[in-house]
Amino acid sequence: MIGRTRSVVLTGVRGHLIDVEAHLAASLPTFTLVGLPDASLHEARDRVRAAVASSSLAWPQRRVTVNLSPASLPKSGSVTDLAIAVAVMAAAGMIAPASAARSVHLGELGLDGQVRPVRGILPSVIAAVDAGCPHVVVPQANLDEAALVPGAEVTAVDSLAQLAALYGNDDARPTARGPSATPSTESAPETNVPDLADVRGQPEARWALEVAAAGGHHLLMVGPPGAGKTMLASRLPGVLPDMAPGDALAATSIHSVAGTLDASMGLLTRPPFEAPHHSASAAAIVGGGARLARPGAISRAHGGVLFLDEAPEFPTGVLQTLRQPLESGEIVLHRAYGATRYPARFQLVLAANPCPCGHYFGRGGDCSCTPMARRRYFARLSGPLLDRIDLQVDVLPVRRAQAAPGESSASVAERVREARDRARSRWADFPWTASAQVPSRWLREHTPRSAASVAHAAMERGRLSARGADRALRVAWTLADLDAVAVPASDHVARAMMLRSRDGVQ
Ligand SMILES: Nc1ncnc2c1ncn2[C@@H]1O[C@H](COP(=O)(O)OP(=O)(O)O)[C@@H](O)[C@H]1O
Ligand SMILES: [Mg+2]
Ligand SMILES: [Zn+2]
Repeated sequence: MIGRTRSVVLTGVRGHLIDVEAHLAASLPTFTLVGLPDASLHEARDRVRAAVASSSLAWPQRRVTVNLSPASLPKSGSVTDLAIAVAVMAAAGMIAPASAARSVHLGELGLDGQVRPVRGILPSVIAAVDAGCPHVVVPQANLDEAALVPGAEVTAVDSLAQLAALYGNDDARPTARGPSATPSTESAPETNVPDLADVRGQPEARWALEVAAAGGHHLLMVGPPGAGKTMLASRLPGVLPDMAPGDALAATSIHSVAGTLDASMGLLTRPPFEAPHHSASAAAIVGGGARLARPGAISRAHGGVLFLDEAPEFPTGVLQTLRQPLESGEIVLHRAYGATRYPARFQLVLAANPCPCGHYFGRGGDCSCTPMARRRYFARLSGPLLDRIDLQVDVLPVRRAQAAPGESSASVAERVREARDRARSRWADFPWTASAQVPSRWLREHTPRSAASVAHAAMERGRLSARGADRALRVAWTLADLDAVAVPASDHVARAMMLRSRDGVQ
């Protein structure tokens, strides 16, 4: 007697269809799971057996063997519970085998027979549909999320008994319902982004933010406490365009796996904003966890903004780890059973006080730090990290009573959108879409000589390094896009260099 069905396991945000097969033999009653390297799947055995018994269904008094294949896939978590129960019930003739075989089953079982929501439903259902299995059975609480996948034919159940009844078993009775569990929402993605109209004065900092948005440039803001750095950074997503469809799907899948997706809002289209605190664990920021490698803030920021407020306060290890995603757009998390990859392409915004006491600016302000302490403070941000940050500006406090209220995010966003459109069509034949991603070689070959000479002159005077010159050219292209001209002029390069007011010689 054999019962068959299918389920999905995830590696990172990619789903893989797996076969679940139950064999029943007339022998001493036992229950063995095969193809399960992970301890959590052994717990599945106890949950599945208890769930069947709690549903007024009799567990078969046979030797039960369930095989999950391919065995090579690292399976972890509880998402395969429902499929295991369905395969066993089909093998025992408790439900119609054809019904079991027809659908992909996703869901965790409670000991009481409830079907509990799981993380990662979106990429799992996408994998099922892509593999030609559009019929999926999911936990009731995951229905909204499963329904986001075009082409999926979704059945939602909240108990094993309900599913057994649906598959032709007349004895199945759900036990009394407890409160249904919902996935945790550690940091729900920002939906109400504050408006730039709240920021008074600060023309330079606002301009830097607009340029960052238009070119996708990483941004560092340095200034004393209360200058408005946090306020400005949190308004960046509000002036960014919607995510491209590929990014939107990847971002939604990541939040699905992280358990931070509100599926009632549909697919994520607005760029996410993640602002982990410097005291958060490395696993929370970068990704990881004891058993399952979960996406961290840097992956939840995929397609949007990662904001590190008071950046020098972050552990050096965390700051160092950022170099990999900044380079490759993904993070590889190493775990006992293998490596998990998550996308992590984000726009980085760093805010920092100028020194440990926070008051060093202008001619020293009221700073009480030693020059040594000041240098050490910034050294934590390390050259390789700062090297990737095209825009580095000082933000000084304004006398707000005298400053005019600012332009709204909507009108800034309009200029940003036009600049991005111009950049995208210029680079339609290249793998990059925004200035921040343009390789140095392209910059050197295509920036008009008259414009580039401004940067070269600064290099000759020792005021700019070769890398600094590339960064200035990159930003100059963004400024040209904002000015709606085809190529940067010398004036754009000069202004680009001013957006590195902290540069010095690098
Ligand atoms: N330019 C500004 N316009 C309006 N309010 C401001 C401005 N700068 C600062 N504030 C106010 O001061 C508070 C502190 O600003 P914040 O962004 O936290 O400063 P920082 O991050 O530089 O320490 C904000 O909550 C805001 O109310
Ligand atoms: Mg702040
Ligand atoms: Zn100081």
